Amino acid sequence: MDIPKKYFKTKAAMYEEMAGLTRALAEETEDEYAVLANVSALLALWMPDVSWAGFYLMKGGRLVLGPFQGKPAVAEIKMGRGVCGTAAETRKTQIVEDVHACANHIACDASSASEIVVPLLSGGVLYGVIDIDSRKKARFDEEDGAGLAKIAALLCRHVFEK
Ligand code: SME
Repeated sequence: MDIPKKYFKTKAAMYEEMAGLTRALAEETEDEYAVLANVSALLALWMPDVSWAGFYLMKGGRLVLGPFQGKPAVAEIKMGRGVCGTAAETRKTQIVEDVHACANHIACDASSASEIVVPLLSGGVLYGVIDIDSRKKARFDEEDGAGLAKIAALLCRHVFEK
C-alpha cells in the first residue's frame, strides 16, 4: 500500500483516515502479526514527529514486544513497570509529556522525549498496548489518546477477537 504524505487540517481528520486504513489492513489477512506490522508502519509514517511506534502484546502475564517501527526496544515488560506496564496494569491510556521527568519510564532511546501508551482492551480482556514515542516534548495530547483508542478498538474487533 502506497501511503502518500498528506496534509490534514485537524488531528481528528488524520485519525479518521488512519482508522479507515487500519480496518482495510485488518481485512487483508487473518494473520495477527501481519496486520500489526502494517499498522505500526501506518502509525510511524502518518503521525508527525514520531520516533517509535509499535505494539507490546500480553503473553503469560507480561508484555512482550510485537511488531514495531523504530530502534530495537526492550523485549519484555512486567505489569506495572514503565509507561507500558502502567497502562497495562491500570488499563488506562498514559500520556507522558517529559519522559526524563517520569521515574517509572523505561528508556529504550535516550533521545526520546515524550510518549503515549494506549491499552488494547475489549470486553474486559487486555490484549496488549500501542506504544508511541517522540523526540519532541509534550508531543501527545488527549486528542491523540482518543484517536488511538479508536484504532485500538478496531484492532480488538477485527484482529484479536476474530
Ligand atoms: N518507554 C517504554 C518502553 C518501551 S519503548 O518506549 C519502545 C516504557 O516506559 O514502558
